[in-house]
Amino acid sequence: SAQKTANNGDAGVDTPFVKARTIPSERALAIWRSADAVCFDVDCTITVNDGLDLLADFMGVKDEVEALTTKAMDGTMSLTRSLEERLNIINCSPDDIRRFAKAHPPQSRLAPGIKELIKALQKRGVAVYLISGGFRELLLPLAAHLGIPKDRVFANRMHWQWDDETGMPTKLVGFDTSEPTARNQGKPEAIARIRENNPYNTVVMIGDGVTDLEAVQTSGGADLFIGSGVVVEREAVVAEAEWYVYDYKSLVSALSRYKVAMVGSGAWACAAARMIAQNTSQDDPEDEFDDDVRMWVHQGGELVETINSTHENPTYFPGIGLGPNVIATGNLAEAVADADLIVFCAPHQFIRGICKQLMGRVKPGAAAISLTKGMRVTPEGPELISQIVRRTLGIDCSVLMGGNIAEDVGREQLSEAVIGYYNLDNAQRFKKLFQRPYFRVSLLPDPVGAELCGTLKNIVALGVGMVDGLGLGANSKAAVIRQGLLEMRDFCQALYPAVRDDTFLECCGVGDLIATCIGGRNRRVAEAWTRSAVEAAVAEGNGPPSGRSWAELETELLKGQKLQGVLTSNEVQQILRTRGWEAHYPLFTTINRIINGHLPPHLVVDYMEGAKAAIPEELDEDIVP
Ligand code: NAD
Ligand code: 13P
Ligand code: MG
Repeated sequence: SAQKTANNGDAGVDTPFVKARTIPSERALAIWRSADAVCFDVDCTITVNDGLDLLADFMGVKDEVEALTTKAMDGTMSLTRSLEERLNIINCSPDDIRRFAKAHPPQSRLAPGIKELIKALQKRGVAVYLISGGFRELLLPLAAHLGIPKDRVFANRMHWQWDDETGMPTKLVGFDTSEPTARNQGKPEAIARIRENNPYNTVVMIGDGVTDLEAVQTSGGADLFIGSGVVVEREAVVAEAEWYVYDYKSLVSALSRYKVAMVGSGAWACAAARMIAQNTSQDDPEDEFDDDVRMWVHQGGELVETINSTHENPTYFPGIGLGPNVIATGNLAEAVADADLIVFCAPHQFIRGICKQLMGRVKPGAAAISLTKGMRVTPEGPELISQIVRRTLGIDCSVLMGGNIAEDVGREQLSEAVIGYYNLDNAQRFKKLFQRPYFRVSLLPDPVGAELCGTLKNIVALGVGMVDGLGLGANSKAAVIRQGLLEMRDFCQALYPAVRDDTFLECCGVGDLIATCIGGRNRRVAEAWTRSAVEAAVAEGNGPPSGRSWAELETELLKGQKLQGVLTSNEVQQILRTRGWEAHYPLFTTINRIINGHLPPHLVVDYMEGAKAAIPEELDEDIVP
């Protein structure tokens, strides 16, 4: 017999006939990875049995019909004739078909792994078609089960005799022989039609039979044929198929995967890269991501070597392993060169310079997400970090924001984040990239609100640090946090009226505000700065406070990590000042005056007074971001 049940074997399987090409050529793999449409045969490719054979069995004429099916599949009888003869023998009624569909629901007929393969293709936006020499009536339930729309199903149609009185079909009288699938060479013809009506560059045909193989033997057909021995192995197909598979998992694993780049290697960049690396290295055939996460390290050199050999960043994220699949590089362009998903997580003051270097060097169609908290202020007005990415690189950019102290995320303590997005598909993909059992991600269609919350809370955190530095308690802190949240909301909505109220109740709003005001670096450095300012004032009498500088404390306490709040306060204050809004933002304004040495720290809890205080013109000019 030229047919045997396949053994689901591994690569390079010896068949009784010839050696099947189970390892794809480079050409085959490249076509598979770039396919716009994949057309599946149905019987014995998608299903473990032949629909007509099964119907024949149901009708009690199994043996006669099966013999004719095999002849058609082996190419020893024309398809049209085999179909005609089989229908004649089966001779079913519409009611028989309904009962048959109930007796053999789709899930009972699917070949192992086919559903996962089709899902993996659809997830990547590949159009999936069914092209069957069988009958539409029998395979529409399968198509529905697999999420394949009716207009992507090419098959034969039964012809019925109709009852004049009831207007209902009664008796099978043959089939529509005008469909391409009714004859040999029908599959390439169907594919040619699909190509006529769709702008596909690359089309792949997968099937078990010689009529499927024909898809690549005629011009205008498929670019690649993949033979399937998952259900049944046929000699002629094994001999001719450029790529032959016994397991659909091998096709899923061979699909291209999204490559991820991390732009940044500070504390949060490391914690985020670690989560991503945990997700991309999962042993899951449906995993859409390439295992390796490329991480750009600004310093390059020795730090790159250390990260790649120890899988840890001792400078910015000591004591927490990143995972062996985080690959550091000092070359920015190289890090993002073939990335499909680019994560921006450098301190905000560096993002514009980074984007300038990347102009024209990112993959077209790549998607970005910014984890950076901060903004840029130009004479033309404010610009969010995600806007810089979109404008300079011409790619979509979501944001991920939440109460996410890097070290706590690194220790896998429960944290929440939102992805603020414009493009839902990209956001969903990023959610899969970040979501971990300890890191809960939800989607928020307010990207501007989310990003601004993450930016502005750094100012409030400075205020809370001042309260701590003054030795005041929880009530005072709560008062500063509450006023801070109000000013955050007012500022966001004054600049961007579409920002939603609810966003401030999300983890990117009040969540991040609380986390940063309890455990953040801005709070910590502001506390130390305030103590030093208070001590200096006591020592110096009534002069202006002149303790230690922000830069000095940043270096000493953060050891290379960056303080974002001071820069952000100065940037935001520029906007408040140029628009004449300072009086409406008394807390922001007072904090800004304190950090610039124009007011004593104790006014942080008297912010109404602080905002009213007259600031000498020339001092006011000092506020440069
Ligand atoms: P970080 O504060 O640890 O900053 C140090 C990083 O800046 C290092 O990778 C260093 O190489 C890089 N750097 C220094 N000079 C540079 C230059 N000239 N050009 C480019 N890069 C340079 O970094 P982080 O903690 O990853 O923070 C990045 C962003 O994430 C910030 O906007 C921060 O507000 C935000 N964020 C931080 C945390 C946190 O807990 N650390 C949490 C959430 C969000
Ligand atoms: P700090 O930079 O103040 O540590 O804030 C970290 C943060 O943004 C937590 O969500
Ligand atoms: Mg078949």
